[in-house]
Amino acid sequence: MKITVVGTGYVGLVSGTCLAEVGNDVLCLDVDPEKIRILEEGGIPIYEPGLQEMVRRNVAAGRLSFTTDVEKAVHHGTIQFIAVGTPPDEDGSADLQYVLGAARNIGRLMSDYKVVVDKSTVPVGTGAKVKAAIADELAKRAVDIPYSVVSNPEFLKEGAAVEDFMRPDRIVVGAEEEQAILLMRALYAPFQRNHERLIITDVKSAELTKYAANAMLATRISFMNELANLAEVLGADIEMVRQGIGSDPRIGYHFLYPGCGYGGSCFPKDVKALIATAQDDADITLKVLTAVEEANDAQKHVLTHKLKARFGDLKGKHFALWGLSFKPNTDDMREAPSRELIADLFAAGATVTAYDPVAMHETQRIFGDDSRLQYAENPMGALDSADALLIVTEWKEFRSPDFDAIKQTLKNPVIFDGRNLYDPKLVRGLGIEYFAIGR
Ligand SMILES: NC(=O)c1ccc[n+]([C@@H]2O[C@H](COP(=O)([O-])OP(=O)(O)OC[C@H]3O[C@@H](n4cnc5c(N)ncnc54)[C@H](O)[C@@H]3O)[C@@H](O)[C@H]2O)c1
Repeated sequence: MKITVVGTGYVGLVSGTCLAEVGNDVLCLDVDPEKIRILEEGGIPIYEPGLQEMVRRNVAAGRLSFTTDVEKAVHHGTIQFIAVGTPPDEDGSADLQYVLGAARNIGRLMSDYKVVVDKSTVPVGTGAKVKAAIADELAKRAVDIPYSVVSNPEFLKEGAAVEDFMRPDRIVVGAEEEQAILLMRALYAPFQRNHERLIITDVKSAELTKYAANAMLATRISFMNELANLAEVLGADIEMVRQGIGSDPRIGYHFLYPGCGYGGSCFPKDVKALIATAQDDADITLKVLTAVEEANDAQKHVLTHKLKARFGDLKGKHFALWGLSFKPNTDDMREAPSRELIADLFAAGATVTAYDPVAMHETQRIFGDDSRLQYAENPMGALDSADALLIVTEWKEFRSPDFDAIKQTLKNPVIFDGRNLYDPKLVRGLGIEYFAIGR
């Protein structure tokens, strides 16, 4: 099939590449010429395990190409995926200008039947807006060309995006026209040879499913974070509680890890957007989600509070920071808890040397050349003359460090672990002061 993917970010690039991998002819469009240049030169603009090799293989096979030429992109695909960003507006609702801009381009330039598939995370009702935007452009041209609008939310996880796309748990397709449903079934057939994973819904239900999924996961995290803070005061160990409840099949183990808050490009923005949709479009206050967000905002400062409780005034203190990205296996710094922590430390007059396997470049772009934030080439290199070690991302390489070396290198043998990586008894037994979350 001929497919166009509009937006070549985390979702668009992974989707386009995986669709090419199964034999489709895919053209990826982006408005950012720098991204397209990197891709055309055989690089990739993001860090995502396994993606670069897959991009190269499919480009070499002639099934995957990149462009900034909107007209070429619209003419190419019968299926037009919209995978552009939907960042939060000032009031928290999703900003649809990029989605609707992409839709208008399609309406302005299409000359034959198109299935326009919304893969961006968008509020309920966006499908209808996309349909109207295309209709409006066609009316301006005084032409009548058939098209369908489909909602196909993406559930991939950064860091495991290729695997998630190639072996999805489920594929949700919100579509109401037979021809579009047939095409979407054929498109996704190669990804579900073992058993049917396609869930066909109406457009609005598909749109809401994506928000419901992220809101549920964010709720589990905030719930555990609150219980962790309680466990700490009561003298219980949240890790034991986690295992005690996770073993109940009605609850399960996933997404019950307490920590220093969730971040990333999806949970914070999607929780905000769902709250805003409910308020603005239905006059309903989502009380649970409002609390989920509040709890998360507070949790991003939990390490700062612990630091102040241990050291008092942080002015002139220097800290080693392990992990910057919002989670392991990605360089994505959007809403990363590390950003809040670094800002807190700066505000308190402290300085930081950070190490992250892939996100230092992106962090430098965000913080600029601020002398208060230095970078180390390896984890141990961050520890020199630091008053304590702080951990905010659970990269595998932090899981089993040389505790003796940590103890010897730090000015004070103190670890603040925002991801509960270590056994408190073991670490404390080595003579290291260990502050974790809820333990
Ligand atoms: N990142 C994730 O893990 C993830 C997972 C599921 C869903 N989503 C959703 O997918 C959407 C995209 O997310 P992302 O993380 O890939 O965003 P991103 O910011 O990485 O990529 C978006 C890309 O779209 C491009 N773009 C914007 N307007 C354009 C236009 N008119 N034409 C062509 N290109 C245009 C931008 O230049 C950018 O490269 C969002 O709605 C997001 O919520 C993201």
